[in-house]
Amino acid sequence: MRTLLTEQQIRQRIEELGRQISVDYSGRPLTVVAVLTGSLVLLADLIRCISTPLKVTLVSASSYGGTRTTAGHLTINDSLLADPEGRDLLVLDDIFDTGRTMQGLVQNLRARNPSSLRTAVLLWKPARTEVSFQPDYFGFQIPDEFVVGYGLDYNDHFRHLPFIGIPDAEDLQMAQ
Ligand code: IMP
Ligand code: MG
Repeated sequence: MRTLLTEQQIRQRIEELGRQISVDYSGRPLTVVAVLTGSLVLLADLIRCISTPLKVTLVSASSYGGTRTTAGHLTINDSLLADPEGRDLLVLDDIFDTGRTMQGLVQNLRARNPSSLRTAVLLWKPARTEVSFQPDYFGFQIPDEFVVGYGLDYNDHFRHLPFIGIPDAEDLQMAQ
């Protein structure tokens, strides 16, 4: 599999993001809202780079009728979400592709009256964005390639890889 981003590149960039978020949210009641399952690896690494107090809560967003990269009809499960009222929410996902998943999450969470709401992702494919907003924090802009690793999956495979890679046909074949 071809490596797009190495473990070291990811670690360095996450440290930068953590410093930036620590400054921006200093003195504010930060809650990181992590989107299952793709953001788990990022969540674990990022929160350890944030020095300001924070809470962590989880939501899941699954799409039906979509392709391997795009969201179909979006179903949000927020039964694990702690009450967002009065908190500064930072929604954390692995990737901002068309942006539809993040858009659905933002709409759902805004309706629950947080003090503020921003979005953060590790990867952003600007060429594919279909929504009228951009992620507030992102690790890397990447080309329109299907990527796996560091939380990102194909058929739930490859999430454990410590780097971001571009799978070839053989990789996809073994992940059926
Ligand atoms: P959206 O198009 O931004 O809504 O992203 C839809 C979903 O597709 C995301 O939640 C990701 O899980 C998935 N996705 C998009 N691009 C990739 C990719 O390159 N690799 C793995 N999953 C992806
Ligand atoms: Mg996925």
